[in-house]
Amino acid sequence: MGSLRREPVWWRDETIYQIYPRSYQDCDADGVGDLPGILARLPYIAELGVDCFWLSPIFASPMDDFGYDVADYRSIDPLFGTMDDFDALLNAAHSHGLKLVLDFVPNHTSDRHEWFRESRGSRTNAKRNWYIWKDPAPDGGPPNNWISNFGGSAWEFDERTGQYYYHAFLASQPDLNWRNPEVRSAMFDVLRFWLDKGVDGFRVDVIWHLIKDAEFRDNPPNPEYRPGQPEIEKNLQVHSADQPEIHDLVAQMRDVIEEYDNRLMIGEIYLPLERMVRYYGESGESGVHLPFNFQLLQCQWEPKKIAGLVKEYEAALPEGGWPNWVLSNHDQPRIAARAGARQAGIAAMLLLTLRGTPTLYYGDEIGLAEVDIPPDRIQDPWARQEPDASFNRDKARTPMQWSSKENAGFSGTQPWLPLSQDWRERNVAQLDEQPGSLLRLYKRLLAFRKNEPALRDGAYREIHVGETMFAYERVLDKERLLVLLNFSDDPVAAPPLPDSYRGGTVVFSSEEVDNPPEQDAAAITLRPGAGVIVRGGENRS
Ligand code: GLC
Repeated sequence: MGSLRREPVWWRDETIYQIYPRSYQDCDADGVGDLPGILARLPYIAELGVDCFWLSPIFASPMDDFGYDVADYRSIDPLFGTMDDFDALLNAAHSHGLKLVLDFVPNHTSDRHEWFRESRGSRTNAKRNWYIWKDPAPDGGPPNNWISNFGGSAWEFDERTGQYYYHAFLASQPDLNWRNPEVRSAMFDVLRFWLDKGVDGFRVDVIWHLIKDAEFRDNPPNPEYRPGQPEIEKNLQVHSADQPEIHDLVAQMRDVIEEYDNRLMIGEIYLPLERMVRYYGESGESGVHLPFNFQLLQCQWEPKKIAGLVKEYEAALPEGGWPNWVLSNHDQPRIAARAGARQAGIAAMLLLTLRGTPTLYYGDEIGLAEVDIPPDRIQDPWARQEPDASFNRDKARTPMQWSSKENAGFSGTQPWLPLSQDWRERNVAQLDEQPGSLLRLYKRLLAFRKNEPALRDGAYREIHVGETMFAYERVLDKERLLVLLNFSDDPVAAPPLPDSYRGGTVVFSSEEVDNPPEQDAAAITLRPGAGVIVRGGENRS
């Protein structure tokens, strides 16, 4: 858990902000966000204090899975704007000192991608082997028992050529065959196309899915499956994903990224910890820079659970592997829905004070929770295909709320998804003016973090974990910062502090007060859902 001495690399120090472009800012009054909208909001993004933003897919797409079904990797979907709009956004982002990361969706294309149109044309087409085609099983059924992540068989029969093709997600998202060197080379050129433009990196979609078992063996049943869980959980994904050969492919992809200076490669990986950390590659040199760490997205909101997973994660990191933390994304319930509104502040503190690169999800900074979606407005293809599954992803993808004006300042017309009921109060303009608001906490924290090398580089050490309180320190040379978080709905006195914090003072509090009294750390009582940071060591005050 030591702090490694290392060359400065921007993404270790900086904070990433995920934008779901459909829901950030609509400029052409069609109810859907766009690139000119994001451009218009760059001053807000810069002022918030994040350093880099990642855009969910903006490429030409029929939008069956809202852009995660790409029909052309080198063009911008007209819904979001033009290539000129993109170039303008990238330039302006860089002028604001912000970095821009794109979403690369390599596992599958849209069935309307030219490559797939060709591939399905005939069994002898030159692109046939760019996708995964198999003969029917002897009974005419699918080639094996693999299930789509969105429910149903993962195989779709193609009448014209009498074979099935494989799709890990929707039938309109056929999987590319990454064992084929031609696919690799074409897709690596896609990366170069955007890198040449100057993008700062990629978040790689479902990277652990890219290679499937060479023999396409059946997946074993999951003995722990319970009705009501998504259908994909019926089987263990032993053969359909996370195959040993994936790591060579990731290394090749990393080599492409390293043809350019200072670019970041993030991998989306939902796997148990010990398998996830393998995606760092050998000594962190050949894998993705940041395999997304989704543990906080999936764990119960209890100090002991959280402290336990931080410990396990820190211990599992390979040498040279830099940690990262994620609280919410466009596929999971938001943090304010999972932890509750009163905990949103300490959730922010946790995200921004644990060791590693934090990724914030747009809207979390104003405390968006779970927005109700009336049945006739459901958009998520997964929720439509598996209406009984417990979660509809739309709830975490609703429009950003900017002001109390019409449609929360998001759009001149009804947005594609509803706003949260309290949008007239819960919006950027209002919260910006409100002392003690979550938005102001995020801004203060992001600014505080920038000036505290110990928060970015310091080693992590657990200090205290109880039923209600979690305390840890971050230590860099003579700098020591102690983070104290109260998870309960009652006031809680600080636990006995280590000697190094005796006489230390509170240097940051989740509660915003005009002239904070110099508080002696030993005598702190934390209000419900509050957090503080105490400076100790030799530079106590
Ligand atoms: C990833 C995306 C998700 C998408 C899926 C298929 O998990 O985050 O939104 O539906 O890949 O591309």
